Amino acid sequence: MFKPAITGTGVFTPDQTITNDELVASFNAYADKMNAQNAAAIEAGEIEPMQHSSSEFIYKASGIKQRHVLDKEGVLNPDVMHPQLRQRADDEPSVMTEMAVDACKKALTQAQIDASEIDLVICAASNMERAYPAVAIEIQKELGAGGFAFDMNVACSSATFGLQAAADMVRAGSVRKAIVVNPEICTGHLEWRDRDCHFIFGDVATATVVERSEDAKGAFFEIISTRCATEFSNNIRNNNGFLRRSRPDGVADRRDMQFMQNGRKVFKEVVPMVSAHMLAHLADEGIAPDNLRRLWLHQANKSMNDFIGKKVLGRTPENGEQPNILQDYANTSSAGSIIAFSKFSDDLESGDYGVICSFGAGYSVGSVLVKRH
Ligand code: COA
Repeated sequence: MFKPAITGTGVFTPDQTITNDELVASFNAYADKMNAQNAAAIEAGEIEPMQHSSSEFIYKASGIKQRHVLDKEGVLNPDVMHPQLRQRADDEPSVMTEMAVDACKKALTQAQIDASEIDLVICAASNMERAYPAVAIEIQKELGAGGFAFDMNVACSSATFGLQAAADMVRAGSVRKAIVVNPEICTGHLEWRDRDCHFIFGDVATATVVERSEDAKGAFFEIISTRCATEFSNNIRNNNGFLRRSRPDGVADRRDMQFMQNGRKVFKEVVPMVSAHMLAHLADEGIAPDNLRRLWLHQANKSMNDFIGKKVLGRTPENGEQPNILQDYANTSSAGSIIAFSKFSDDLESGDYGVICSFGAGYSVGSVLVKRH
């Protein structure tokens, strides 16, 4: 058995950003347009008018200030209300691959290894750009990596579940060096016309190199253990899929063909599930929460993270103990906890423990206990 370690991480951040004020101005213009179009039905009491969104609400309810996106123009155009991406030919890299390769190169540089040494690529994300061939295999080709590659989707927990898969294979010796990459184009599955959720997501890609501790060339985080759990829930759901065309009303512009959630229920049910999961993981490893130097949590909602941090540590987390990045990136699905880890882990000292923890649709929760070396 080998000891798996994280030796490098990388983040691809799209250049374009949308502030809450910009987003709200566009949403309100769309709402006004729809209300004008539906004036007669509204007047007759047949439908409710669309209500305006508000930047104050968004920040207070979520902690989000802005999001990075691949296409600002399409999202903000009240006549479009979704990203518009260039059509790509089959012989050019897909969008997910392009983002992934950028993040992977940064992670490989930090790990000081060449892409050709990688013998496993896992593309773990909430949405895949196509059904097949696997996006991971295209990333493998573009990087010049060896071995094998596959896609996996566990929604917001894709990154931690991917890390468990990679760490287990490195531990067992079936692979020597793996990269887990999370290109999340969340703007593609978000319903920008729905006031309840239009502010939630942003785009990003993260990558993490996992290899044997003994092979590490610089400072690294040993993966002590991982733990994954799932419990079925319809509270976060997207009904889009390959059978869409086969169903009588599948092709219509239906609300459930994009991200849907019952945010309040998610909040109430997921906070205790995640806290209990992390505490049980730590207890089984004989590590007291007091011994944790840092929590890198899933980045969906600031209050949610405050609750979880307090429950796990048994006190209000101090400044920097539980860093949030969602104010700048919004919810980037599985990539969120990895962005936090990538940006806020350099200052840990040898022997320090931390936990990367993701949670979301499924429900799913994944925790990765690491120790700095
Ligand atoms: N602008 C202004 N008001 C808004 C609004 C907006 N954009 N969106 C909703 N509101 C209104 C609602 O209509 C509601 O009004 P009402 O009280 O008159 O009915 C009120 O604000 C509260 O809405 P609610 O949806 O209950 O807000 P919330 O406090 O639960 O916050 C979320 C919403 C989504 C931010 C929050 O529930 C959340 O983050 N949940 C966890 C989600 C999560 O982790 N998901 C994982 C996704 S991968």
